[in-house]
Amino acid sequence: MTIAKYRSIFSSSTAQQRKENFDNYWEFTQQHGGELLEDDKDLAIKRARLQYFQNNPIKLRKPLANPEAFYRNYVEMQDKPESLDKMTLMLTGIYKFARHEWVGIKGAWDVVPNMANSHSIEDKISRIHLAEEFCHVRLFDEMLKTVGLDKVEWVPLSPWKEKVYEQFPKFPGFLMDTPAFVTELMGVTFYFHLHALFDELLADEPEVRERLKELLDEITIDEIAHVGQRRNFIGSVGIKVSKWLVKPFYTMFFNDIPEVAQLFDVKKMIQDGEDFDFNTVPNYMIEKSWIPSYCKV
Ligand SMILES: [Fe+2]
Ligand SMILES: [Fe+2]
Repeated sequence: MTIAKYRSIFSSSTAQQRKENFDNYWEFTQQHGGELLEDDKDLAIKRARLQYFQNNPIKLRKPLANPEAFYRNYVEMQDKPESLDKMTLMLTGIYKFARHEWVGIKGAWDVVPNMANSHSIEDKISRIHLAEEFCHVRLFDEMLKTVGLDKVEWVPLSPWKEKVYEQFPKFPGFLMDTPAFVTELMGVTFYFHLHALFDELLADEPEVRERLKELLDEITIDEIAHVGQRRNFIGSVGIKVSKWLVKPFYTMFFNDIPEVAQLFDVKKMIQDGEDFDFNTVPNYMIEKSWIPSYCKV
């Protein structure tokens, strides 16, 4: 039997611990992404990594059977989801997940203080966090290009939905912190399940499978750090609320993406969210990521 090294993400913490953890995260995040390139919503190390992928492209041995099915369904599902092959569903599902993320961060970027106007460590951390999320959208775009989908457009939501997303970051912390944390947790759950799906669907495409995993790992390592960081905003009552929110939140969000129920076991995803600790995270990710001190044994 292996001894657990980490406690539940829902473990309690003191205000003093959280303050120290913010200081510690701030040190971590600056060396992790490198210099903030604020005008480009980008980070120097992450940009170099994406450029490496772009300069060393990988192609499918056998082109996608049905790219038209992707282009017909990626923004809005037109066909019956059951009628589509799993590969198409996976790719349109990736796009839809990433699109939600993109809409959320676009709304937030313009309303949270820029770095020059960020005076607290929490504000500075949040600015870097958003820049990392923009890098994720670029990495998702690169995943789609890797399988030959180079005509993907990032389409905004309807104007009123975009407005709703813009209001979200203006909410006071006590309302915003728990859903923001659960959203990050949901991201990690989704990415772990997606990682496993690459093995299933790309057995005959080992090069592309490994490249998609590399691209996804870049994202997942950040998201694991975000889970700890967003958890660190939350006190003892909020963390109970957060655990309670996992099920309704995952259910609501995944219901909005019809691909998810076709490809994944949503019940298991909810369970994974509620049970999350860092023990299931592979070591090569832990080494590059960040974990709150009070989640370590
Ligand atoms: Fe992200
Ligand atoms: Fe994130």
